[in-house]
Amino acid sequence: MIVGGTVRVPGDKSITHRALLLASLTRGTSHVGGALTSLDARSSARVLRRLGAEISPLRPRTVVVIRGRSRFRRPDGPLDCGNSGTTTRLLLGLLAAHPFAATLTGDGSLRRRPMRRVTTPLARMGARFEEGGGDGLPLTVRGGPLVPLRYELPVSSAQIKSALLLAGLAGKVVVELREPHGRSRDHTERMLRAFGYSVGEDAGWVRFTPGGRLDPFELQVPGDPSSAAFLIGAGALAETGELRVTRVGVNPTRIGFLAVLRRMGAVVAVEDVSEHYGEPVGDLIVRPARLQGTEVTAEEIAGLIDEIPLLAVVASRAEGVTVFREAGELRVKESDRLSLIAENLRSVGCRAEVSGDDLHVEGREDPPRGPVRSAGDHRLAMAFAVLGTVPGARIRVDDMACAAVSFPEFPDTLRSLRQAAGR
Ligand code: S3P
Repeated sequence: MIVGGTVRVPGDKSITHRALLLASLTRGTSHVGGALTSLDARSSARVLRRLGAEISPLRPRTVVVIRGRSRFRRPDGPLDCGNSGTTTRLLLGLLAAHPFAATLTGDGSLRRRPMRRVTTPLARMGARFEEGGGDGLPLTVRGGPLVPLRYELPVSSAQIKSALLLAGLAGKVVVELREPHGRSRDHTERMLRAFGYSVGEDAGWVRFTPGGRLDPFELQVPGDPSSAAFLIGAGALAETGELRVTRVGVNPTRIGFLAVLRRMGAVVAVEDVSEHYGEPVGDLIVRPARLQGTEVTAEEIAGLIDEIPLLAVVASRAEGVTVFREAGELRVKESDRLSLIAENLRSVGCRAEVSGDDLHVEGREDPPRGPVRSAGDHRLAMAFAVLGTVPGARIRVDDMACAAVSFPEFPDTLRSLRQAAGR
């Protein structure tokens, strides 16, 4: 099997959400090029419109125009965040500083995801919450004046961290945070600095101080490294070919998966790095190689949290065992990814098991064959579709349509790379 060619991936999901949220809080018109236009990005745009922002339709290859009104207005009904945890949690932070009640809800997967990890510290800052279904959605937030917060997060999570930093921004108070294991992605910190806010780092603490100003902006969103990871994985598992994914975000807090692939023996490189709006952007290049198992440490997990499904399927083709340590956060993603990765790997004939919060995957040479249950989780579906590219594989993913949550073009892109390389 050959995977090769040059390709781009859609805009970064994390940066797109943050750009839409912040642009909605400026007074004036912002332009966001290269924005992700997938279902999750549309969820952010949809709820922000309900809160008073004017946002042009999200269409591929079209600059998004956002007219903000500096504060949100009271919504006239529940805000449907779809499948998007980032939309929900970051918005809770901003709404905590707005003097009205707003109810957030979402699809079946999102309604089950834990929200107290965000509402507990926001309540300490002064926001009030009414739960409608235990630790999940629907949830009503009643915001108002906030007080400063100094807080150690129970888990390393960019969504919790960003919700609290954005509460500090909207409430104009100091927020100091510390993550327990490893650093999660720092896009919010970088963007706030770009607006002139002080976001310092000292002995593991991130300290936000009010004082900048949210002015309308022009931003070009880089390609999403988490989407690129699936194509890079396919390139690493191929028999031959060279694949280049161009203009991808290579923020160090996002590319932990490259270090793991390298340890496994994959030939990956980052080239032509430049900086755009405080974020490094470059090309990722991969060539196939013989792979060995590795150990992914607890400290590494936050920096590759979304890439574990992909790394696990790659590990199933490597020699020996790969262990992902302390990966319990995977239980509360769009699905229980920890159990489903192991269950699906077993279903296609591999050895994989969860022991405590560790995931063990044993590599195997026989072609993977069998059904895969994605539970509507985009990253599981795409990871197992990548496994389906190895010679002799016969993998049936029950639902590929869920790729539209983050990477609608994924099935076509993967097909075109195989065809292009095979020509
Ligand atoms: C995200 C943070 C991650 C990640 C999610 C997007 C973000 O969640 O899984 O896809 O944009 O902040 P946690 O940091 O909460 O693990």
